[in-house]
Amino acid sequence: MLKNLFVYSNILETIGNTPMVELQKLDTGLCRLFVKLENQNPGGSIKDRIALSMINEAELSGKLKPGGTIIEATAGNTGIGLALVALMKGYKIMLVIPDKMSQEKINLLRAMGAEVILTRSDVNKGHPEYYQDMAERISNETPDAFYINQFGNPANPLAHETTTGPEIFKQLDGKIDAVVCGIGSSGTLTGLTHYFQKVKPDVEMVVADPQGSVIKDFVTKGSFGGAGSWFVEGIGEDFIPPIADFSLTKKAYTISDEESFIIARKILREEGILAGSSSGTLIAAAIKYCLEQQRPKNVVTFVCDSGNKYLTKMFNDFWMRDNGFSKHNHNDNLNDIVTRRFSDNEVVYLKPDDLIKNAYQKMKLYDISQLPVVERTSVVGIIDESDLLEALISKADPFCSQVKNFMATNLVTLSSNDKLSDVINILSSGMVPIIVDKGQFIGLITKIDLINFLNKK
Ligand SMILES: Cc1ncc(COP(=O)(O)O)c(C=O)c1O
Repeated sequence: MLKNLFVYSNILETIGNTPMVELQKLDTGLCRLFVKLENQNPGGSIKDRIALSMINEAELSGKLKPGGTIIEATAGNTGIGLALVALMKGYKIMLVIPDKMSQEKINLLRAMGAEVILTRSDVNKGHPEYYQDMAERISNETPDAFYINQFGNPANPLAHETTTGPEIFKQLDGKIDAVVCGIGSSGTLTGLTHYFQKVKPDVEMVVADPQGSVIKDFVTKGSFGGAGSWFVEGIGEDFIPPIADFSLTKKAYTISDEESFIIARKILREEGILAGSSSGTLIAAAIKYCLEQQRPKNVVTFVCDSGNKYLTKMFNDFWMRDNGFSKHNHNDNLNDIVTRRFSDNEVVYLKPDDLIKNAYQKMKLYDISQLPVVERTSVVGIIDESDLLEALISKADPFCSQVKNFMATNLVTLSSNDKLSDVINILSSGMVPIIVDKGQFIGLITKIDLINFLNKK
């Protein structure tokens, strides 16, 4: 008989009781800054807590019956948390998701057994295909359905009032002065506000808001205008969530996407914590708050989800550059349009003696349809998908043929000082301009490079 083992009886018991770590390398002035690692929940985010709480509450109130269907409108962490709890408790789950969401998230939700219903992302509240309206309608039409509605569900803040808050209090032995939160549904801020009102009402709640969101203006001015857009995921709103309680909120900071990404990348390099983009926003706001303080304070914020969801975005240098967050030196010539530079080892290329098989593998791996063929520092050809196809059709063993036998050699070269209109004309004719300066290959300009460049302008 096995007794007293340190084991959990199922994965849902591992939700919560997340570790708290003090950040060491950042300048926080007179303050100490602590992060609660919500990325260590089994579904990878702070939302596991509310998923469990909202489903438990629906069971207790009889709104969710055995064999029932859970419905929610979300593509984010709440969906993953709900899918996890639903699969462990034997419920069906349907998630209505706007069609701009990443394939990785959709694949994960489907792998967990969720039914994913894609809907339009270009329509607003009130439109029948708006994801929240659609989820509500489906729940009205589905027998034994329960619509979670995290934005209006009291069991959302309750999860933070009864678990996150007491854990923070215990971990810092009550010596806590401020908590920095982002706002999505406002469940975290509201639940913590309710908890600290009871145990330590002098705790200052501080809001970290992405640039473009309306929450900061509402907190500081009591009014707000139109919302903008932002890349950081999971926080920021274009309305004030109905469950929001700002009664302990003393401060709010607007943080740009760029600041958020820089901090999140820094936290990985310097503190070894793989945090998501919104954690960058929270930590950036927490640092600002810390540096403004005139006396030592203990400040807590969150790593709300894991950075592994953002490896192809914020942690990818090319994604950062394509979206204008990190730049090469500005030259005021065509070099500025080249996103991948040969001199910085950023160009994916082939050598003339490489095999067609290598070309195929590189195109698949990097998701690109054409590659330059480079001999030392000069481009001697370009190989694209149609060349690959020709090789495959024409040879008995095409995967052993060399790239030089199939590459196109009628190349169009421009120097850095040529005109933008030359680039446009060449791309319009179906060719790819190769930028060469003093005999040195600089890089290619593809259509997407030009689109990104014009978009940034
Ligand atoms: C990724 C992410 N999701 C959710 C939240 C909190 O959202 P809510 O206001 O819904 O509790 C945060 C807060 O920082 C977050 O970073």
